[in-house]
Amino acid sequence: MEETMEERVEEQVEEKIEEKPNVGIEDIPGVGAATAEKLIAGGYDTVLSIAVSSPGEMTEAAGVTETVARKMIQFARESMNMGFESGQDVMKRREQVKKLSTGSEAFNTMLGGGVETGCVTECYGEFGSGKTQVAHLLAVNIQKEDPNAVAVYIDTENTFRPERIRELSDGAGLDADQVLGNIKVARAYNSDHQMLLSEKVEDLIKKQGLNVKVVIVDSLTAHFRAEFIGRGTLAERQQKLNRHMHTLMKVASTYNVAVYVTNQVMAKPDTFFGDPTASIGGHIVGHNSTFRIYLRKGRKGSRVAKLVDSPNLPEGEVNFMVTAAGLQDL
Ligand SMILES: Nc1ncnc2c1ncn2[C@@H]1O[C@H](COP(=O)(O)OP(=O)(O)OP(=O)(O)O)[C@@H](O)[C@H]1O
Ligand SMILES: [Mg+2]
Repeated sequence: MEETMEERVEEQVEEKIEEKPNVGIEDIPGVGAATAEKLIAGGYDTVLSIAVSSPGEMTEAAGVTETVARKMIQFARESMNMGFESGQDVMKRREQVKKLSTGSEAFNTMLGGGVETGCVTECYGEFGSGKTQVAHLLAVNIQKEDPNAVAVYIDTENTFRPERIRELSDGAGLDADQVLGNIKVARAYNSDHQMLLSEKVEDLIKKQGLNVKVVIVDSLTAHFRAEFIGRGTLAERQQKLNRHMHTLMKVASTYNVAVYVTNQVMAKPDTFFGDPTASIGGHIVGHNSTFRIYLRKGRKGSRVAKLVDSPNLPEGEVNFMVTAAGLQDL
């Protein structure tokens, strides 16, 4: 009995979704060729992107009045197939999710198999804790399963080292030259540049047809932290960081790519109990990351990774050593 009821509801929802024909941004009343061009230049190239935007964003991007902006958004919202999907559909999509190996079995197990595709994983910790090492390892290890898998490496601190990739490739039994060929590195010189590079990742996938499996941003926050100093600039910094995270999330979910970002920590001088550190970027980074890993130095040169936040896994802690060949479980 219950099942038929469920099925009926599902059918009705599906009918509703299919009723509306697909609409492009040029179909929105008030959007002429010039406005459409501005919208596309501002990254609003789909009806969905307009439907989920705010009037403020629209006036800025398209140069229209707020009233027009509201109408555009309203229209976009009404014409959207605002997709509710069944849990089964979500489950089917979850089956596409791949787990990328960190090189440590214990670390992978803690993450439910490895770093997930389709979402953002944030790794934060003090200097030398191993965030960049894990980034290098992900770029190498994806090629164990698929020799054509590509890693995109947005390097903001000039810490990408091809020599280290060679060493880790040897450790993984892979051909270092081939591995290096499949890593696309870009140095980001400031936060705007970094944001632009993250927007260009889509081109690598769509236009160049690269089989991108992981996008690394190391470090996510260093430029933002250096450029926006003082309380007065905090709101602007957070806004930009938010936009950046959204770009990364969109790439992750649209193309089933893993996004791995690193983040520094700052001292919280007012903490008396627990860990006196907090990651940079606060809520913005935390809430936009699906998985959060805290790395720290352990005893005798070991490293400790802690899973701090995950939608479906228990918190956990693992211990390993960083060696020439990769990560070694303790
Ligand atoms: N070839 C290697 N063999 C063994 N250990 C290595 C090797 N290269 C790096 N390491 C270890 O990794 C550490 C550096 O870690 P990493 O650069 O990943 O830190 P990080 O968390 O990115 O720091 P930062 O915040 O400064 O960017 C070194 O201190 C060393 O312990
Ligand atoms: Mg680093």
